[in-house]
Amino acid sequence: MLDTLKKLVPELARSNVCMKDPHFVERGLRTMMKDAQHKLQVIADFDWTLSKYSENGNVCDTTHKVLGQSKHMPEFYRTETTRLKDIYMPIEFDPSLTIEEKTPKMIEWYSKNHELLNSCHLTRQLLTTMVTESKARLRDGCKDFFDQLHSLDIPLLIFSAGMGDIIHETIQQQATFYPKNMKLVANFMKFDEMGKMIGFANEELIHTFNKNENAVHSSDYFSNIRHRENLLLMGDTLGDLGMAQGAEHISCILKIGFLNFEVEKNLDVYKQNFDIVIIEDESLEVVNGLMRVIL
Ligand code: TMP
Repeated sequence: MLDTLKKLVPELARSNVCMKDPHFVERGLRTMMKDAQHKLQVIADFDWTLSKYSENGNVCDTTHKVLGQSKHMPEFYRTETTRLKDIYMPIEFDPSLTIEEKTPKMIEWYSKNHELLNSCHLTRQLLTTMVTESKARLRDGCKDFFDQLHSLDIPLLIFSAGMGDIIHETIQQQATFYPKNMKLVANFMKFDEMGKMIGFANEELIHTFNKNENAVHSSDYFSNIRHRENLLLMGDTLGDLGMAQGAEHISCILKIGFLNFEVEKNLDVYKQNFDIVIIEDESLEVVNGLMRVIL
């Protein structure tokens, strides 16, 4: 650990933080400090990145788990969604398959899941209740992170292959507001005027392997913020690294990876791919430490 970097951001010296190349991190950080809020943009995954992987030793809910574990969902949904996950998740993480081979399987999985949800008679009100009763938690310090980005009007793109309505509701309930500098790209349900679910809103569903510029290609999001050349990217899987594809004119990027479990098995590959790896942490304190010096 470099003394200069440690002085800048003491949080980076914590024992659960790893950097392959601290010089690279310091250079990036100093560029970002020079440009401050004027050139910064943030892209973050949601499940187990902005939200906690665990709290007091218990695994927290992802957006899909909020639905899959809820007593308000019909029995057939809970059983079937678990069965599908057992079939398709091993394919998602199978190192012997290419992305081209995995993609049709992911579309199959998400389509089946959406079909099931279409027959669950969901309402907006029920989603609110399910989130309140769930084990989905924003990381400690996430509200401060949102507040700071919001107060300086720094664009935050949340990119998720999870359920957008659950993310929206979780943020609203736990951060107590929904910031206008935030753009959420995820799978959204469609509701009628009475708040009853009538299908899905996305033209194209978002799964793990198209969580990149394809999912925002029809929007002018990136071109509108092309002057924002400094990017903080936050994710918890290697697939999240693709979220920056499509962000134009980036001259400086720092990739932050949350390694939530199977640390020994994954640390090397996370260190190779992320600039800063944060291990088994329930908070955003390290990220907030970086923000403190950049802004
Ligand atoms: P993300 O966290 O990278 O945005 O990806 C969402 C994860 O959700 C991805 O690993 C697939 C998973 N998933 C479920 O756990 N249950 C489901 O029913 C579906 C469709 C996806």
